[in-house]
Amino acid sequence: MANLKTNYMGLELKNPIIAASSPLTANLDSIKKLEDAGVAAIVVKSIFQEQIDKDAESNVDMEQSFMNHADAYGFLKGASEDHFIDMYLTLIEDAKKACSIPIIASLNGTGDGSWIKEYAPRFAYCGADAFEINHYIMASNANLDGRKIDKDFIKFAKIARKEIKLPLSMKMGANFSSNSNIIRELDFLKYDGLVLFNRFYNPDIDIDTISIKRGSSLSSNSEYSQTLRWVGLMSEELNLDLCANTGIHDGETLVKMLLAGASSVEICSVLMNTGLDSVNLMLETLNNWMENNNYNSIDSFKGILAQEKMDDPTLWERTQYIRSLHG
Ligand SMILES: Cc1cc2nc3c(=O)[nH]c(=O)nc-3n(C[C@H](O)[C@H](O)[C@H](O)COP(=O)(O)O)c2cc1C
Repeated sequence: MANLKTNYMGLELKNPIIAASSPLTANLDSIKKLEDAGVAAIVVKSIFQEQIDKDAESNVDMEQSFMNHADAYGFLKGASEDHFIDMYLTLIEDAKKACSIPIIASLNGTGDGSWIKEYAPRFAYCGADAFEINHYIMASNANLDGRKIDKDFIKFAKIARKEIKLPLSMKMGANFSSNSNIIRELDFLKYDGLVLFNRFYNPDIDIDTISIKRGSSLSSNSEYSQTLRWVGLMSEELNLDLCANTGIHDGETLVKMLLAGASSVEICSVLMNTGLDSVNLMLETLNNWMENNNYNSIDSFKGILAQEKMDDPTLWERTQYIRSLHG
């Protein structure tokens, strides 16, 4: 059996597979099953800033019927926000007690970072081993300059880094005009990890009811290429650890991400689609591949195909099918 241990954000993982934040990581029973299935760490379902605000607002609406007073509104809003945060903190605490693998808390916030400032101290003592921040700015406002979006993103990242003292990763989208610049900025800010890339909720259209519907929430196994490219392009330039995410459904893709320079991978769709046995199958493929290629540790082959190690670095950058155009 090869040694599958890896390090991610200063955490020693028994293997490179992390359960990504999803409904599977939203309750203790399911978290425990994931640990039993062999994952090396768990990112708990995110707590969303909007969710707290919205839930708090709707609780307050109910209370308004018998307590319609401006001061009471502020008091109740604070109380119900606390309620949802307390529920999250309890889940983290329970997960830490029940599991021996690292538990990563996930905070999903919008805006300018004041939310993080307000809540980070509350989360600091919940016992999580690390934090994953998820921040996305939808560039749907044509009046908003792309440079402003980047600036706001980095401003948020800076506040989060300042407020959260534990190991911290950013789970980012792939939609920046210069992913490499944003990634380097996060490295400069001393993030410990970076999850490339988040897969966002996508809208679709139902042509029978002629209405908007939810797009497929699960990835397919052909969606990993963008992640692979950016892991390969950036891994050797960074001090932080990369965690590959999106479209990783099998052991072969796991091996590819490690060869490109990822320290770990996060998986979600394959677990939801084919069940928790997929963890063992992926680890078996990784182990067999390592044995067949005489690698006895992840570190001995991690990043050997990263761009900086290649004689022809353009292999990672090529975007056009020049040869097929010219015959
Ligand atoms: C139903 C569902 C819920 C999710 N909830 C969250 C979440 O709360 N926070 C988060 O960061 N990612 C969330 N994700 C995204 C996953 O963590 C993951 O990044 C994404 O599914 C891509 O990985 P995959 O290709 O292995 O599925 C969710 C995904 C699904 C399918």
